[in-house]
Amino acid sequence: MKFQKRDWFFVAIIVVVLGIFILISGKEKTKLVPQNADHQKFHDMIKAGKTKKEVDPLCEACHDGVKIAFPKDHPAKPGGQPMRCLFCHKIKR
Ligand code: HEC
Ligand code: HEC
Repeated sequence: MKFQKRDWFFVAIIVVVLGIFILISGKEKTKLVPQNADHQKFHDMIKAGKTKKEVDPLCEACHDGVKIAFPKDHPAKPGGQPMRCLFCHKIKR
């Protein structure tokens, strides 16, 4: 098969998509929600079918940035809304 300009364009797209995929997966090292007394109830809620969006706001009871400070480089809180903690910090299954 002879490669034409169009084929190279296709190859380039695949390379870019793969590259982004690898880049993102490399960053997926965010700490899991610990499985301990403080956090067990959240694991249970998710298992019981609660959505992450329902559970997220409860984190701030402790993780309000004062009682437990966030690391300096922690992603910022979007204005006014509760942070989507569980979007980044996964519940281990
Ligand atoms: C946009 C993604 C994102 C969101 C949303 C998010 N975090 Fe994080 N969090 C991170 C990253 C990235 C780090 C730093 C790397 C790490 O510790 O895994 C971090 C670190 C932390 C740490 C420190 C972990 C350590 O190293 O001891 C805690 C605690 C934490 N986050 C709690 C929360 C809580 C609670 C919420 C919700 C109020 C939240 N995070 C929302 C991405 C996020
Ligand atoms: C009852 C208080 C409390 C609540 C509520 C709570 N946490 Fe925590 N969390 C803690 C404490 C205490 C630590 C340990 C703090 C430290 O290392 O400085 C911690 C640590 C963490 C860590 C870091 C774990 C690590 O490996 O270093 C993450 C991630 C985290 N919590 C996520 C969450 C999320 C997500 C929620 C909401 C679903 C939540 N927490 C709700 C008390 C709480």
